[in-house]
Amino acid sequence: MGIVVDNLQRIREECEVLKMTDKQIKEIMCRLHNDLKKGLSRADHDKATVKCWITYIQDLPNGKERGKFLALDLGGTNFRVLIINLGENHFDMQSKIYAIPKHIMTGTGIALFDHIAECLANFMKEHGVYEERLALGFTFSFPLKQLGLTKGVLQRWTKGFSCSGVVGEDVVQGLKDAIARRGDVQIDICAILNDTTGTLMSCAWKNHNCKIGLIVGTGSNACYVEKTANCELFDGEPEKEELLINTEWGAFGDDGSLDFVRTEFDREVDVTSINPGKQIQEKMISGMYLGELVRLALVKFTRMGLLFGGQGSDLLFEGGSFYTKYVSEIESDKPGDFTSCMEVLEELGLSHASDADMAAVRYVCECVSRRAAHLVSAGIATLLNKMNEPRVTVGIDGSVYRFHPHFHTLMCEKIAQLVRPGLQFDLMLSEDGSGRGAALVAAVACREAEQGS
Ligand code: GLC
Repeated sequence: MGIVVDNLQRIREECEVLKMTDKQIKEIMCRLHNDLKKGLSRADHDKATVKCWITYIQDLPNGKERGKFLALDLGGTNFRVLIINLGENHFDMQSKIYAIPKHIMTGTGIALFDHIAECLANFMKEHGVYEERLALGFTFSFPLKQLGLTKGVLQRWTKGFSCSGVVGEDVVQGLKDAIARRGDVQIDICAILNDTTGTLMSCAWKNHNCKIGLIVGTGSNACYVEKTANCELFDGEPEKEELLINTEWGAFGDDGSLDFVRTEFDREVDVTSINPGKQIQEKMISGMYLGELVRLALVKFTRMGLLFGGQGSDLLFEGGSFYTKYVSEIESDKPGDFTSCMEVLEELGLSHASDADMAAVRYVCECVSRRAAHLVSAGIATLLNKMNEPRVTVGIDGSVYRFHPHFHTLMCEKIAQLVRPGLQFDLMLSEDGSGRGAALVAAVACREAEQGS
């Protein structure tokens, strides 16, 4: 017994590196704030790690948008095609998920766009709109330098994609070309947007305080409403006072500014990823990496003889075998109950785990997910303080936020502690931001075009 308690105690001590002190969190906020300012500034933008791309979306939905729209959603684990009917105070939506095979994720851009266009045409056939000419909003959740609402140049791939021939190119053109190569369907691409933007738009349709969109899913990123006067790179007509900025904060830390809180596990996740040195903050927060961070810690503690009697399993030692959904499942167990934890460990070939091992595994999960929630909170509090508005709603989507049992509560507590006194905020789950948001952006673009004509 003494040894067992000692092991758990030692694991707790080893996990101290995963905790960020208040002082460290304040320092992170300060650095992020500076990076946001650099991203927005004409002089520093090129050197900035947090790029703060201008989205060219200046109009939030006013609830009056109507009509039938198509949407594409590419950028998480799945690719989806949607058809959405916007009516008075309601909308109906049908969608289908298509797999993106690994060889396409890492193949050529042409093959990727051909695959997307094929899924789109099949979807239109299945939904009886193959012959119609429809407007489409394209949620493309990667860093884009937008040159307009329908023109966006890919800056880098993130989250496991690496298709050749797309970085530096206009993604809308890539999709148009693929549609033209088929020659069978008539589509007007009205807008290209990020998933954070879609999330914000979809919440703003109902809630006019929604001025931040956040994703904590496969990747992590946020967009927010900024005063046009602060966006030095905006070259459109400054008739609108505000515009939407896609921060691409996943790249925060790419210049070493998070090194003071990174651990050996973070460095290992980074060097074994397909984009070493890139998306450093994202690799500490998002669903693509949280499970792997936990796994690396468990491997270390097993090798130290502190877990599983020093006996691992082939799967435990295999990269990527500990899914992020396991973290959510394990933390969903009630205190003292290890039902889900046991199931996960059995799946990993660790059925010899003792109760003390399970308590330790759960502790490691808690440390990794808490740190992620605290980093996200630091980011949101930085944005809220910068915006300095009395009450802001944050629209949120993504598998980690949606399925982790404590992420929402952890964020509420931490943001409340970090935000300037007097500022109020609400965290709102966005129902299918990327899909509905894309249709809304397309609808707003049509609304504007009609009003303009
Ligand atoms: C990655 C992408 C970003 C996206 C985020 C969430 O960080 O670069 O564009 O918003 O993932 O999907």
